[in-house]
Amino acid sequence: MNKRTLPILIGNWKSTPDTLQNAIKIVKLLEKKVLSAHPKLPKKPYYLAVPEIFIPHIKEISSGFIGSQNIGGISLGQTTGATIPSQLLTGGADFTLVGHSEVRKRGESEEERMHKVALSLQSKFTTVLCIGESKRDKEGKYLSFLEEDLKESLTLAPKNLFDYLIIAYEPVWAIGQSVPATPQECFEVVISIRRSLVSLVGMDYAKKVNILYGGGVHKDDAKIFLDEGGVDGLLIGQASQDATSFFEVIKNCYSK
Ligand code: PGA
Repeated sequence: MNKRTLPILIGNWKSTPDTLQNAIKIVKLLEKKVLSAHPKLPKKPYYLAVPEIFIPHIKEISSGFIGSQNIGGISLGQTTGATIPSQLLTGGADFTLVGHSEVRKRGESEEERMHKVALSLQSKFTTVLCIGESKRDKEGKYLSFLEEDLKESLTLAPKNLFDYLIIAYEPVWAIGQSVPATPQECFEVVISIRRSLVSLVGMDYAKKVNILYGGGVHKDDAKIFLDEGGVDGLLIGQASQDATSFFEVIKNCYSK
């Protein structure tokens, strides 16, 4: 797999917008803005995780990478209401999010998650595994929690496919908030994730994995995570749901 262009900026539209027409409007405006910023931005300056049903339509008009927010039907046999990776591939998806805290809250089990990660990697999807603690404690137990979560989620993941893997650190307490974690709080976790990856699969494989931050990121605080938070990119929810604010995040992240 080719090396990814950094920073990796992934919008997570969640369950927005309400119609395909509105989704197309947002992407067309975003594309216009991206085009007008050439050559300051690379060819594919963003990733966008959209509602599954929009993927083929958005793919046609976007210069970015388009992905799904979840995958399903894994190891469970026939399942109603779940889209399996090969279906997402034929729909044009370039990447998947796995283990987002909002999916976990709806009852995703650890076992399902480890199968999802493995299958997504085996399907050669760029696979963004989301991990994050619900709360922090003074003793640093959240770091052991994250390490354990990471280990479990990667149990079935073949290490020779680790160049398709991205880890998104998303503290649950920062998601959907107006204020994100601090870059220092992020940095500490990034170091710990890197250490855990090295002890899991060794340095050669661990260094192939990009790490992102997500949770409460907006245009004014996006760049500081890249400069001081030790991450290779960002996972952006609310601020990606509008063309102007997503473009501002992208532009600021690429500014010197
Ligand atoms: P937020 O969401 O940027 O709205 O906090 C991030 C996410 O849920 O991925």
